[in-house]
Amino acid sequence: MCGIVGYIGNRDSKEVLIEGLKKLEYRGYDSAGIAVFTDNGLEIRKSKGRLAMLEDKLKNEPIAGSVGIGHTRWATHGKPSDVNSHPHTDNSSKFSVVHNGIVENYLDLKEELSAKGHIFVSETDTEVISHLIADEYHGDIVTAVQRAVKRMRGAYALGVLTEYEPTKLVAVRFASPLVIGIGENENFIGSDIPAILEYTRNVYILNDGEMAVLTRSGVELMTTNGDIISKEIFHVDWDLVTAEKAGFEHFMLKEIHEQPKAYRDTMMGRISEDGKSVVLKEIGMSNEQLRGISRIHIVACGTAFHAGLVGKTVIESLARIPVETDVASEYRYRSPIITPDTLVIVVSQSGETADTLAALREAKRNGARVLAITNVVGSSVAREADDVITTWAGPEIAVASTKAYTSQLIAFYLLGLYLAQERGMAQAQQVEEIVAAMHKLPEQVESILEQAELFKTVAEAMSKHDNLFFIGRGLDFAVAQEGSLKLKEISYIHSEAYAAGELKHGTLALIEDGIPVIALVTQEDLYEKTLSNIKEVKARGAHVLGIANAGYEGEVLKSVDEVFSIPRTLPLLTPALSVVPLQILSYHASLARGNDVDKPRNLAKSVTVE
Ligand code: M6R
Repeated sequence: MCGIVGYIGNRDSKEVLIEGLKKLEYRGYDSAGIAVFTDNGLEIRKSKGRLAMLEDKLKNEPIAGSVGIGHTRWATHGKPSDVNSHPHTDNSSKFSVVHNGIVENYLDLKEELSAKGHIFVSETDTEVISHLIADEYHGDIVTAVQRAVKRMRGAYALGVLTEYEPTKLVAVRFASPLVIGIGENENFIGSDIPAILEYTRNVYILNDGEMAVLTRSGVELMTTNGDIISKEIFHVDWDLVTAEKAGFEHFMLKEIHEQPKAYRDTMMGRISEDGKSVVLKEIGMSNEQLRGISRIHIVACGTAFHAGLVGKTVIESLARIPVETDVASEYRYRSPIITPDTLVIVVSQSGETADTLAALREAKRNGARVLAITNVVGSSVAREADDVITTWAGPEIAVASTKAYTSQLIAFYLLGLYLAQERGMAQAQQVEEIVAAMHKLPEQVESILEQAELFKTVAEAMSKHDNLFFIGRGLDFAVAQEGSLKLKEISYIHSEAYAAGELKHGTLALIEDGIPVIALVTQEDLYEKTLSNIKEVKARGAHVLGIANAGYEGEVLKSVDEVFSIPRTLPLLTPALSVVPLQILSYHASLARGNDVDKPRNLAKSVTVE
């Protein structure tokens, strides 16, 4: 889970690499480095810490040349340190490699190469790749890379340079994303499109087992077996400004504010003009196949998994199909019962999460049809699934997911309605009622955002605590889990989400004087039961913030210390509103603690390792 970038052309490659790495820092930021062909040969500068540290180093130790590769790291094998940073090289320093992924058999390869006299200086798996390529080199870098990757097991996106062939940059992909940017007398590689978008909008998206040989004047595409291939150019029609902060202090805040647009864009073109039916042209299943689905598995990680928890309730209540939810890292190890009439829904913002991708492959291997809900067109998940619902949230840069989560909820509402409609479970009138309420959601989110400042004081008070609870019942419990994750990951406050009725079976023992409890009370059929649970924590000294539907705040206030009201919608749609105050609370709590909101410690945006 690192970012790689590469350039071959006539510009100062250092500038292109650093700018590209800035766009990729969300993929990892514990060290960074670049390798450039200079008049003195292949030179490397690398540094532990944020990219800014590398930039400082480059001021003191400048480097100039028009061909180079760069890397921003999220440590897997070996601690963050200068020596473990990429690019890595072989003993002759004639080969240089940047890598995203994990070489699973690196210890065996290391042992074998050591026996041949190779000396290793780092703890990384990547260093083995540079030695392996050097070992396989007999005058042709392309063949050497092909021979090397055949011996590697695991995941890799690689950028490779050798001093012996300074007019070539070789890129290869297996199970880690890689795109090739096509310019005029210059070409690029990047872990994802924003890294190179400043320079070109025309890209090739490499598939597993494919490689590219870049020169200044062209790009040759082939498989790792050496078969020449051709590919369609993917033209990127979104711009870089979309991926920048647009005046907000942090990406997370910007992305929270982009939710109304993300809701509208995700719904756009998917609801008939009369508002009576949902149109999901992207689903290629026939009516017979849709009617034949006997069970659904929703599989995802982190926030996307929490969207899946809401998705379960939505699909079960609208389409009456039994749904199981699994975190992707567990799914394939529990031997799930997958039959040909099982629909597996994978949810992933990035479409590159290794565990989710592995779950997708497991489902396909077992004969299931896989539907993906993802935010990234052309991502691995999107390409490998049978059907794809794209969430049009736009690029999400902050590590903490916000607009991707809520647009995943919109996708689930659309899907739930579509399944119900196609299986004859929903009347046009019911669809119309839900669709009408969905159309109001963007404005309702805007009205919550207008009151965002109200949360500052509450968040500041919260930020002084080390432990906190979120409680709720039904869909409120699903949202509580997302609220709790959001708070943990950016404020570093320990929090737990509990089904409100479950507290008394043990966890209530942790409630003591002054402990903050955030209680979601939006599910009106469960309202009185949740209020009773709130009273249980109040009686033990908790300080309770209630999130309630407009019209109920007065009543809820009788049982809590503070209340925040959200606009009223249908119970099934409430998560799309009730999560917004929780996102804002987490944001302010993180700020109050002086944390790096967009890049929390130990995390990376896209987790492409298992
Ligand atoms: O890209 P994905 O949706 O597959 O990512 C899954 C999780 O890693 C992600 O949602 C993570 O939990 C976020 N940092 C939460 O804000």
